[in-house]
Amino acid sequence: SPAQTLIKPVVLVGMMGAGKTAIGGAMARALGVPFLDSDEALVEAANCSIAEIFERDGEEFFRARESEVIARLLDGAPAVLSTGGGAYLSADNRAMIAKRATTVWLKADLALLWERVRHKTTRPLLRTGDPYATLKDIYEARTPIYAKADLAVEAHASYSIDQMAARVIDALAGANLLK
Ligand code: S3P
Repeated sequence: SPAQTLIKPVVLVGMMGAGKTAIGGAMARALGVPFLDSDEALVEAANCSIAEIFERDGEEFFRARESEVIARLLDGAPAVLSTGGGAYLSADNRAMIAKRATTVWLKADLALLWERVRHKTTRPLLRTGDPYATLKDIYEARTPIYAKADLAVEAHASYSIDQMAARVIDALAGANLLK
């Protein structure tokens, strides 16, 4: 059967460590559409790391630039867009994304997320204080917000990136979002 592709952009949301970037890249390859990443676009525009943007300009500045970048990235042809874990928290961002795209929450439990981020130093939000306690607080506060996404797909430690991509694509097909 012919390969299926997207009828509109897909935005991946969820916690840091959920696999948004890796799974989004694999989905885009499988669907034959561009892969976009808001964190990556911000790093390119600022010519420094996310952690450096937070340090130098603050989180509020980062969030404002992030909203602009997401709006711009959703302007073109259907693509898979991975967003930073905080992007979906703003009601304005959610409304802007809902107008243009289908949103998929990559849902991973706290233990898996911690396993994935504990050895990394790239996440500015986990750089101070007790990183596990911070992750847990963020996880609990954000779960009901991520649940507003159009679809949710559960991640497990045993699923490969390609398996996860296939699971998301199946969910999109089940919601009649492929052609
Ligand atoms: C953030 C997650 C990061 C990045 C920034 C803030 C968050 O992206 O945008 O550090 O608020 O959860 P990842 O979800 O790709 O780690």
